[in-house]
Amino acid sequence: MVSKKLMGFMVACLAVPAIAAQGQAADVVSLDHGIRVQDAGQVMEVTALRDDVVRVRVWPAGKEPEDASWAVLPESLHSSSEVTAQKGGFATAKLRVTVGPDLALTVLDKEGHVLQQDAEPIEHRGKDFRIYKKLSSDDHFFGLGDKPGPLDRRGEAFTMWNTDHFGWQESSDPLYKDIPFFLQLRQGRTIGVFFNNTYRSFFDFGRELPSEYSFGATDGPIDYFLMYGPTPKQVLADYAWLTGPTPLPPLWSLGFQQSRYSYSPESELMEVARRMRADRIPCDVLWLDIDFQKDNMPFTTDPERFPHFPQMVKQLAADQYKLVVITDLHIARKPGIGYKPYDSGVAGDEFVKLPDGSTYVGDVWPGPAVFPDFTQERTLQWWGTLFREFVDDGVAGFWNDMDEPAVFNTPTKTMPDDVQHRIAMPGFAKRTTNHLEIHNVYGMLNSEGTYDGLLALRPDERPFVMTRATFAGGQRYAVTWTGDNSSTWNHLRMTTPQLLNLGLSGFSMAGADVGGFAGSPPPDLLTKWIEVAAFQPIDRDHSAKGTRRHEVWVDGPVQEAIRRRFIEERYKLLPYLYTTAEETSRSGVPLMRPLFVEFPGATADGHPIDLDAGDSEFMVGDDLLVAPNPSPEEIAPYEVHLPPGTWYDFWTGERFERAANGEAVDLEQRDKLKAVVALTVKPVLEQLPVYVRGGSIVPMEPLTQSTEQVPDGPLTLRVYPAADAAAPCSGEVYSDDGHSFAYRQGEFARVEFSCARAKDGSVSVRIGPQMGRFKPWWRSYRIELYGERSGHEGGRGDQSKAEGSDGALMTTTVAANPAGQTVRFGSKR
Ligand code: NOJ
Repeated sequence: MVSKKLMGFMVACLAVPAIAAQGQAADVVSLDHGIRVQDAGQVMEVTALRDDVVRVRVWPAGKEPEDASWAVLPESLHSSSEVTAQKGGFATAKLRVTVGPDLALTVLDKEGHVLQQDAEPIEHRGKDFRIYKKLSSDDHFFGLGDKPGPLDRRGEAFTMWNTDHFGWQESSDPLYKDIPFFLQLRQGRTIGVFFNNTYRSFFDFGRELPSEYSFGATDGPIDYFLMYGPTPKQVLADYAWLTGPTPLPPLWSLGFQQSRYSYSPESELMEVARRMRADRIPCDVLWLDIDFQKDNMPFTTDPERFPHFPQMVKQLAADQYKLVVITDLHIARKPGIGYKPYDSGVAGDEFVKLPDGSTYVGDVWPGPAVFPDFTQERTLQWWGTLFREFVDDGVAGFWNDMDEPAVFNTPTKTMPDDVQHRIAMPGFAKRTTNHLEIHNVYGMLNSEGTYDGLLALRPDERPFVMTRATFAGGQRYAVTWTGDNSSTWNHLRMTTPQLLNLGLSGFSMAGADVGGFAGSPPPDLLTKWIEVAAFQPIDRDHSAKGTRRHEVWVDGPVQEAIRRRFIEERYKLLPYLYTTAEETSRSGVPLMRPLFVEFPGATADGHPIDLDAGDSEFMVGDDLLVAPNPSPEEIAPYEVHLPPGTWYDFWTGERFERAANGEAVDLEQRDKLKAVVALTVKPVLEQLPVYVRGGSIVPMEPLTQSTEQVPDGPLTLRVYPAADAAAPCSGEVYSDDGHSFAYRQGEFARVEFSCARAKDGSVSVRIGPQMGRFKPWWRSYRIELYGERSGHEGGRGDQSKAEGSDGALMTTTVAANPAGQTVRFGSKR
């Protein structure tokens, strides 16, 4: 509250005071695509980029700031949409914007619902500013990247300042990433707000004041974009249009990945590779952490511990493994020893400097190190060349860690504020600025350099880069993970809200260290973590030095068998996962998504249904609902909340109908379960409840040990009709070569499926004609029809016997006809 007393400090200092008439701003000018208003020495410009996207900028009169963004795509930044001038504002086809006295902004939908409204004038304190918006009692907030804590950000406050935080906990803030984008849900209407400011920034969703939410920064422009749904999916599409979607990843990155800090020497890594195949644990990727390097120097290999590096990579490739190696950005300050990254960086003047012109040196893993100035385009290009030898050796992917950047020997654990960055980048004025402006985008620029460098070196391969620090838009270049989590049950629980919010923030390809990084998971925790992670986008097992080993087999055959079964299920689901990932690359809707994204109208009062389930449930794609225990360490039964409609148990095929009034009904035992408002599940170590939406067709494939192995057998289509015969029933499969860009030239295969039920109960399944020229691996379809009866003798949840298809009512296999075909199932009622 105190800070608000200082409100208007800067405004009072500015010239050109103007007294506005009641209800109207002092000086309003209509622009082609919006409005410019001057009031009390400030200028506000509101422009329409699209019908449903407006941009708001405010600056002191006469001091228009640079119009630039590290996050927004140039073509989106400079796009504009038709508007109609209205008194004190304008309208687009979807929105109405008005600006009142004190630059009070209101945005409404066409029906007049207030979507966002200023609560008070912008607060200034020196360079620091805050924007206050009215908060209503039914507002809910999501996004903001990797912030831990509840899925709904309401009632919380956050700081954006990329921070290396080993062993972070539930209320730790800030963490590694700055993604200043959030969604606001109000009575079934969704807006998104992207705050285009890279300085240390703040978001408060009703923590300071119960009736207002706010955001602001310590410096930089007042510049934000408002996107309107009303559906969450439309807002996600708008945000992807603004900052770029997560691109289609290589198929192998959806496979299981095994890492540890660190597999070293070479023989240790090869033993993991051998054991994985010997134990038949499907796996695609092995990771090398810092100890494969010579003296922790990035872009080197240790000749003693890894004497046959290129041969080792080849051997792994022969065993169908991809290798990802760590390539940290801190370059060891080692002159005179022939260390190319340092020598060439000095020669090209690529490193950041202090105000006195000396190169900044900070301690990280290799000891004294220097740091590339990624704000220079030529430095990005130089950085990209450093990957050449690893690329020539056949290394598949790269890991940009420590890029907040982390520095060990400073009080702030990062570079000093006065480190200089010499911005020389298209879209930006050439100028020198200090680290305060660049800190939050440094990690994203690191991954941009890596991504572009890989594209230059291997133009036909989709680059795979993983980064720890990033900014909005960073999803264009790298996948990410949640950093140094811990081996506790609570951390397992937190992976769900954290990955969901990352997905809503543009990062569809995200994961958490499976088993937890810091500490040693007890066997049951590791098993449960492997189960849940099998349904999360990046499935990478990773652990810290000095902790107990995490590999799937470490706790004996009983635990291993459970873990294997879940990883196998992931591999069988790869057609579904890859199809969804491809959809994400066009729609911006993440692979792992909260229930409200699919079912925004699931509750009578419009609150997100996810909140009823204690933040624990999530959707994978449109159709799978995963329901881990909200208190994973508890042995007591818990409730699963299903959105209204037909649902099937993924493991057994058993069918449920949830009525719109919140009642869950097992059709076979309608009377017995009538009073139940949610399914009650007894936690069992070897089980994870997963449900399939009625009205869906889920493609699955025969088990392989890696994504490189060609599946042997038909593509299975699991058909799950909705109880309501009139409800849509559809699905899709997408396939391509899994690693190149040939799909952009038509080398893909897409087949759409639908099903319909006739009056006599018979069901016909339509397999559409193949789109695209790519020849997929399958030659036939096995169609499994679910529904009508619970056909699994082992009973619900007996997953060890279910093997996927026990609950199917009928199955048939047909040869694939690229022109399309229809398969009919007679009634068995
Ligand atoms: C910090 C990363 O978060 C962790 O995953 C990695 O193992 C260590 N750095 C060592 O490189």
